[in-house]
Amino acid sequence: MTRIIQISDTHIVPHGQLAYGQVDTAAALADCVDTINRNLPVIGPVDMVFVAGDLTDFGSAEEYQRFRALMEPLDLPYRAIPGNHDNIDVMRACFADQSWMPTDGPINWNVHFDDVVLIGLDSSVSEAAHGHLNDATLLYLTTVLNALNGKPTIVTIHHPPILTGIEKMDIQNLRDSMELKEILSNYEGELRLTCGHIHRNIVAPFGDVICQIAPSVSHAVTMDLREGAPNCLTKEPGGFLLHEFRGGIISHHIAVGDYPGPFRFYPDK
Ligand SMILES: [Fe+2]
Ligand SMILES: [Fe+2]
Repeated sequence: MTRIIQISDTHIVPHGQLAYGQVDTAAALADCVDTINRNLPVIGPVDMVFVAGDLTDFGSAEEYQRFRALMEPLDLPYRAIPGNHDNIDVMRACFADQSWMPTDGPINWNVHFDDVVLIGLDSSVSEAAHGHLNDATLLYLTTVLNALNGKPTIVTIHHPPILTGIEKMDIQNLRDSMELKEILSNYEGELRLTCGHIHRNIVAPFGDVICQIAPSVSHAVTMDLREGAPNCLTKEPGGFLLHEFRGGIISHHIAVGDYPGPFRFYPDK
């Protein structure tokens, strides 16, 4: 059974800094890596981890190097797509030693497991917060899907193509997504779209597929659905997703951190 962990929006900043002057994102990522390693005996085996964008806050080489150092203790292979807080040129250079990193163009990749295929797509737009899939990326997606003969597939894109009701995030979602909706909806096999960016666990329909947005491993975007709500973060517990193929793709939410338990519901059972 293929199992894949999705982490998202780690927003690593340079040493000695807090993201937005508030959040120790490095501590959160270290805690996430520790949570994954600690849980592997009861949730594994896990085939791979992927990071759904916003690895860093400012896209600097120092931040990517710090990200890699924090991921070093992870007992699993990983790969990543960029988000709006990433710089794909700097990210490419910092992961140039990784076989999944393309030498040029958008940071798109795919990986085949026994019973599921994972496709990562680059929705980043230079110097902009919103997302967009350019023609090369849409062609890449179509070409990969056409060769899969309906094999169950997870497509991951940093920017969600849906509206969540969180106004300040919805204005920077994936633009021009009609073509994506058509490509995904026309796929003949099971297909799950997974995203990041919103820092909250949200599920919504997108055409004929399910769109699953992952929480951040660190801070959340504040849950405020009022019109004109301010753009805020909340220091809620971080989380990540475990996708597994159990006759269909199911996705579990796991909280980052070490919590009391497990406790038997009944001592004699
Ligand atoms: Fe983010
Ligand atoms: Fe983002």
